[in-house]
Amino acid sequence: MNAERLIEKAKEARTFAYVPYSDFAVGAALLAKNGQVFSGCNVENGAYSPSICAERTAFSKAVSEGVREFEAIAIVGGPCDKEPENMCPPCGVCRQVMQEFCDPKTFMIYLNDGSRTVSYRLEELFPAGFVL
Ligand code: THU
Repeated sequence: MNAERLIEKAKEARTFAYVPYSDFAVGAALLAKNGQVFSGCNVENGAYSPSICAERTAFSKAVSEGVREFEAIAIVGGPCDKEPENMCPPCGVCRQVMQEFCDPKTFMIYLNDGSRTVSYRLEELFPAGFVL
């Protein structure tokens, strides 16, 4: 599974985003080491704090199905009414969740703004991450 195919899966997942409060739809596609792909979208809530990001939806789906080893994640996001025009880097909470399950030196994060894909290693986006 290459970066571009993973981006396509993130775009598909984005179509399911439930975002009545922000109108900002995000999709993620998480590639496990066994080749499985877990998709996720953001799911908001009227009480705001129960809202969950697309990335954490994908991680929760994978971990709850017994999968804990990951290679990469693709993330796309932007206002609901159009195709994304900017990169959507993961929030700090999602970076901490990546840190929990992924090797920061090898786990890849792919972002796409509609025309360009950039890739980062987790350690670049989350240096000196906390591990208990
Ligand atoms: N959001 C994500 O799903 N992932 C990110 O990486 C950034 C933000 C969501 C949270 C909220 O539903 C909306 O985007 C606006 O912040």
